[in-house]
Amino acid sequence: MRVLVTGGAGYIGSVVTAALLESGHEVTVLDDLSTGHEDAVPDGARLVQASLHDSAPVLADVRPEAVLHFAAKSLVGESQVAPELYWENNVGGSLALLEAMRAADCRRIVFSSTAAAYGEPEEVPILETAPTRPTNTYGASKLAVDAMLTSYATAYGFAAVSLRYFNVGGAAYGVGERHATETHLIPIALQVAAGTRESLTVYGSDYPTPDGTCIRDYVHVVDLAAAHLLALPAPAAGEHRIYNLGSGTGFSVQEMVDAVRTVTGHELPVVVGDRRAGDPARLVASSAKIHSDLGWAPVHTDLTEIVSDAWAFTQSR
Ligand code: UFG
Repeated sequence: MRVLVTGGAGYIGSVVTAALLESGHEVTVLDDLSTGHEDAVPDGARLVQASLHDSAPVLADVRPEAVLHFAAKSLVGESQVAPELYWENNVGGSLALLEAMRAADCRRIVFSSTAAAYGEPEEVPILETAPTRPTNTYGASKLAVDAMLTSYATAYGFAAVSLRYFNVGGAAYGVGERHATETHLIPIALQVAAGTRESLTVYGSDYPTPDGTCIRDYVHVVDLAAAHLLALPAPAAGEHRIYNLGSGTGFSVQEMVDAVRTVTGHELPVVVGDRRAGDPARLVASSAKIHSDLGWAPVHTDLTEIVSDAWAFTQSR
């Protein structure tokens, strides 16, 4: 298929681009390089540096058969203090993209949604039918795009899939997580192991979990990429599907710290700090729906493997 990948210079977008190329797809990446890296775009993909707001001429030129839409602002903390960036980029940008798709008669899309769309869960594991009550603007902006896709499917026959990622980790194809502003647990812990940061602050050890630290569902970026390839041809015209993507298993921050110590051999100094606002105690996905519909199952579920692959990437930089 001839596809356009927005945000293909970012962490997840570049890994999925590499997987698409490996499967024989023809890929153009649209990225404004505001947070992505030109050198992360895999060889074999064409890069067009443009914003989502200026995507119409790109769509008209490329004439893709499908779009995989990753480009977004994705810092929860920032979304609380500068919400306009999230409404403008994530919601306004996605609307511009959908309109550009409509004009170019491209009606197939896979969208990067998020577990943050659910907010604080009533029940764990979280099903796709759970209430969506995001606790931050980032999650609200992604949820708004999910709603947009439902209406574009109904009104204009779009074939759409929203994939709600839980905690993505690992690296592949020489690409890994590297953000100018890093807030995520695994890369921060690895920065400490690599000696570029002094210590890791564990945000709270008084949660109602077995060791008192938060539990999250970590999914390897390779498994995530495989889900995108399965999702791409899945929906019929007029259909918008929503799938969770997690491993179905929870690991605590303490367990992650232990895994990083094991993999890196670094003692990893840890400071226990206050809770971070808006962090639910336990977020674990049910991915049963994508398993039964598309046959997706995560393969790289071992925490050590996720950390090892991310560590290999950190060391390669
Ligand atoms: N954590 C620490 N110290 C740190 C960083 C994180 O203790 O320095 C803890 C957090 O409190 C949390 C866990 O590690 O309990 C994971 O935190 P991340 O920031 O790595 O990931 P989140 O679970 O907060 O966020 C992820 C995605 C978001 C998405 C969210 C959905 O990265 O994009 O899940 O809930 F919005």
